Amino acid sequence: MAEPVASEADDGPRAPDGSPLPDRTLPTFERDVRRMFTHIARGYEWFDHVASLGNDLLWRPRALWELDRFRRAGPVARALDIGCGTGELARLVTHHYGAARVVGADFTRAMLENAASESATRSEREHLGYVRATALKLPFADGSFDLVTNAFVARNLSDLRTAFREVHRVLRPGGVFLTLEITEPSSPFVNRLFHAYFDRVVPWLGSAVGSEGPYRYLPRSLKTLPDPGSFLALLSECGFPRVSARPQSSGIVTTFLAEAGEDSVTRSR
Ligand SMILES: C[S@@+](CC[C@H](N)C(=O)[O-])C[C@H]1O[C@@H](n2cnc3c(N)ncnc32)[C@H](O)[C@@H]1O
Repeated sequence: MAEPVASEADDGPRAPDGSPLPDRTLPTFERDVRRMFTHIARGYEWFDHVASLGNDLLWRPRALWELDRFRRAGPVARALDIGCGTGELARLVTHHYGAARVVGADFTRAMLENAASESATRSEREHLGYVRATALKLPFADGSFDLVTNAFVARNLSDLRTAFREVHRVLRPGGVFLTLEITEPSSPFVNRLFHAYFDRVVPWLGSAVGSEGPYRYLPRSLKTLPDPGSFLALLSECGFPRVSARPQSSGIVTTFLAEAGEDSVTRSR
């Protein structure tokens, strides 16, 4: 990866059941996020399908459908999926843009090991590869990609502005950035149902599988994400003049889309 990461010491904040519980106010936050994803890597996909009641299987394909409606003409020959985890979105992107070369990047070794151990189709073997890298300092040259995606990663980043500027740097002008993320439903009724489930049932399910910390962290992490309007404003500030937010499932998740401008504010000469 581009820069050495801190050693994966086995200390740090924990829930009562001993599982990692990252705290954003601590200087060790990034390392603790990595420890948390190391802890849940093995059952990650299975737990995600159960906790989202299967909806996550629809959210990623729908996000790519929204991407196609947003994107202007031009090939997608090179794509990067940041925080690829076990590779669910990276694999979909590989199949969606059959001719593209796709890179999945993640800073948690255990998640990448699970991604690599998935039985790959022929197209995945030929077109998809994985690298260990942090979203805050991407190991790619300026303008390397036509498309950058990420799903359920933004909440975990210590510095969204730095991450967005890095994405802008590695995209070609006119390239598109897609972020799929959990968001607050705007309807008060749906919002109440959502929080009853997300703040209580999901941590309870997590504690049933020895992961109370990660699934207590999940609703906390949502509170630190900017609201959709501020999220789009930050993207614009980071060099993306054309932006859009497309809610799914009554706003429980949102697909944020952003087109990289021609300016070179984040690109080296
Ligand atoms: C909730 S998982 C999402 C995985 C996958 N994108 C999906 O759709 O299932 C978040 C992933 O982001 C990764 N991640 C979090 N912060 C990161 C960072 N700063 N740099 C790279 N990867 C990061 C974690 O290691 C984890 O694999």
